[in-house]
Amino acid sequence: MFFNFTQAIHSAITWVKEMNKKPSFLHSLILLLHPEKVRAGSLVFRRTFGLGGMALLLFVIQVITGILLRFVYEPTPNGAYDSILFIRSEVIFGELVRNLHHWSGMLIILIVFLHLLRVFYTQAYYPPRRFNWIIGIFLFILTILLNFTGYLLPWDQLSYWAITVSTNMLEYIPLFGEWLKTAVRGGAEVDGSTLIIFYNLHTGLLPILLTMLLVLHFWKVRKAGGVIVPAEKGQGKQVFVKSIPHLLKREVAVGLSLMAILLLLAIFANAPLLERADPAFSPNPVKAPWYFAGIQELLLHFHPTVAVFVIPLLVMAWLFSFPYLKTAGRYPAVWFYTEKGFRLTIAAALFSLLITSAAVIAGEFLVNWQAWLPAWPEFISNGIFPLLIWVLLLSSLTWGLKRKYRANRNEMFLWIFTYLVMAYLVLMFTGIFFRGPGMALEWPG
Ligand code: HEM
Ligand code: HEM
Repeated sequence: MFFNFTQAIHSAITWVKEMNKKPSFLHSLILLLHPEKVRAGSLVFRRTFGLGGMALLLFVIQVITGILLRFVYEPTPNGAYDSILFIRSEVIFGELVRNLHHWSGMLIILIVFLHLLRVFYTQAYYPPRRFNWIIGIFLFILTILLNFTGYLLPWDQLSYWAITVSTNMLEYIPLFGEWLKTAVRGGAEVDGSTLIIFYNLHTGLLPILLTMLLVLHFWKVRKAGGVIVPAEKGQGKQVFVKSIPHLLKREVAVGLSLMAILLLLAIFANAPLLERADPAFSPNPVKAPWYFAGIQELLLHFHPTVAVFVIPLLVMAWLFSFPYLKTAGRYPAVWFYTEKGFRLTIAAALFSLLITSAAVIAGEFLVNWQAWLPAWPEFISNGIFPLLIWVLLLSSLTWGLKRKYRANRNEMFLWIFTYLVMAYLVLMFTGIFFRGPGMALEWPG
């Protein structure tokens, strides 16, 4: 094969060893990003799975491939689609660069999400890392916004209509929703003004914000003394090892493996491109980008204001605030906190999978709150009321479990978080795979 992966890893390790011997500019640069020594415990792979580093690498790949695409891409309704065709067929390695940008843009969301899960399940959200959790939530939002603004740029039927339905959702935000929708679109409809706004956000403001926040993120990791390690190994008798070669070697191995996977994806799977955007002809169904498919699914079950505003607001409020709630004691870096915590996590995942799937099916075929409560305004009958029932049911179940299993507060955090994550995944996968024309529930095929 033209690319020998084992050979590449071997050469990389030799390079890392050489780096250790003779200090150079690169040596100093690497030390700028790392402390000279790190705790030996932080090198254990299953502690972080290298996910933060992978997210960083993918962001760097996005910046490099994005800058290359920028040389040819034209952000106008007439030029955008043609420039993508040009990139694909006329530019040397154009198709590959576009594919890399597309797949890496998708992978980064997945990896950042897994990194968030890793941070949560190892309780790396307590002081001194608490503020970094908050920064992390903003990083996650920015990463999604970067993907979202990039989504429109190819200006084909898929991107045009996905952005149309997603920005339509904004109008359901109380008081300033209509204004926000118009501001984001730069007018009433998705058109050339939207394209230029999205292009500037995508290739200007958002990457700059993300870079600034990342600098703060890494500084905070370093200030906290590196990644979290279990208390018994971390107190008193800490063992330190040199970052070069010990940490660097591992980073290079993870980075090369990730790049190999990405390259294979980019070589064998082309980024989609449908027909040129046609504002007069809407496909059926029109789906939001995959990561917003869960919110679009919620819209089919709840009053729009509850689906796009109240529920996301409540979930966000919880994500921002739970590290500030009283803790039941800490076992830093212990996955799932305790044995009981692990069992509650699995139970929450299974329960949420079943109950959310059942609710989706019931919502499609059985439940019709508006018809059952015709005298009430729809916001109450099909919004706040079913939401309250849901919250009450879940709270009593959580309370019951807490008592029955004598679970503490931290173990219940695991239950709530896992329940929410799984519920969103079920809604998202339903939206992506199980919704057909008219958004009716159907078996994929
Ligand atoms: C986390 C960072 C980023 C993500 C997640 C991201 C994501 C995306 C996505 C999903 C697309 C649509 C790709 C397609 O299907 O064709 C896109 C297009 C594009 N992006 Fe990015 N991007 C990021 C950073 C950047 C940066 C930093 C630049 C430039 C400085 C850039 C420039 C472009 C350009 C010019 C296009 C249009 C070309 C095309 O659609 O293939 N991107 N981006
Ligand atoms: C573009 C997005 C992100 C990048 C590039 C990034 C990068 C990193 C890196 C390199 C580390 C140290 C090594 C590791 O844990 O793998 C780290 C740690 C950390 N990250 Fe992120 N991160 C991102 C998003 C997030 C998100 C979404 C959260 C949570 C909401 C988060 C919270 C944290 C916390 C709390 C730590 C310290 C963990 C510890 O000490 O064990 N980060 N991040």
